[in-house]
Amino acid sequence: MGNTHITFIGAGNMAASLIGGLCKQGIKPEQIRASDPGAQQLQTLQDAYNIKTFSDNCLAIKDADIIVLAVKPQIMRQVCEQLAPAVTAQQLIISIAAGVSSTSLSHWLGVNSIVRCMPNTPALIQQGVSGLYATAQVSAAQQQQAEQLLSAVGLAVWLPEEQLIDAVTAVSGSGPAYFFLLIEAMTQAGIKLGLPAETAALLAKHTAQGASSMACQSPFDAAQLRQQVTSPNGTTAAAIEVFQQGGFTELVDHAVQRAAERSAELAQQLSE
Ligand SMILES: NC(=O)c1ccc[n+]([C@@H]2O[C@H](COP(=O)([O-])OP(=O)(O)OC[C@H]3O[C@@H](n4cnc5c(N)ncnc54)[C@H](OP(=O)(O)O)[C@@H]3O)[C@@H](O)[C@H]2O)c1
Repeated sequence: MGNTHITFIGAGNMAASLIGGLCKQGIKPEQIRASDPGAQQLQTLQDAYNIKTFSDNCLAIKDADIIVLAVKPQIMRQVCEQLAPAVTAQQLIISIAAGVSSTSLSHWLGVNSIVRCMPNTPALIQQGVSGLYATAQVSAAQQQQAEQLLSAVGLAVWLPEEQLIDAVTAVSGSGPAYFFLLIEAMTQAGIKLGLPAETAALLAKHTAQGASSMACQSPFDAAQLRQQVTSPNGTTAAAIEVFQQGGFTELVDHAVQRAAERSAELAQQLSE
């Protein structure tokens, strides 16, 4: 990130993770600022990373190359309208707020270089995945900076259309909870088969972790990996058959579709 200066507006969980990830990548503390009304949040960040903190958002963005909007969606309008007189057209705006469109952000801030991102909760342990969309006014160099910034907390994937943010929200944004649900159900099933609760939970969690690592590292796709571990008439085949008979694939499709619809509905409410 060279000598890029980054200001975080909102110093909550997600900002703290991004700041932690950036510091791990070797960004110097003097390149990072954070602004938040909460003195405790700011003190924690100062103690951990020695960055400069502010309680005045407009003061915090002075001379910043990148402004990361990391406040809750419900207060985004108020925060942007307050920042508007201090923002310049050269500054790149990166918003991680769910459901707030680049059109709204641009309208409230009076600038057009905007990157919208949808990270997910594992970003808090630097293992997230984010979908990114850039408006036409964002330069190639700024796109690269946005990608580097989000890469501090996991994988960053570009989207060709802003509308696809709803699909990202449905697949990866809400996705960790789907896996937690599966871990929960597998744990309960293990307990029913006689395993001690703690053992069943460990087996389910670590199986999810191992399978996910294999899927991420392997040259084979998920369907091929599944076929490779499913011998005809074996135990895995018996379980997969029950899943398929119960309409597992259709159920997942339906759930993800519904999440995407809900994301669009919530975004609509925020723009009203
Ligand atoms: N956490 C996730 O997994 C996740 C995933 C995807 C997207 N996001 C998005 O990331 C954004 C931040 O989420 P988060 O989980 O980090 O929330 P958070 O922990 O609540 O952080 C938001 C911070 O903004 C502060 N704030 C409130 N008013 C402000 C103002 N006027 N100016 C500056 N800061 C202000 C809050 O202070 P107070 O607490 O004192 O109000 C809080 O410290 C949200 O828009 C969310 O949609 C989060």
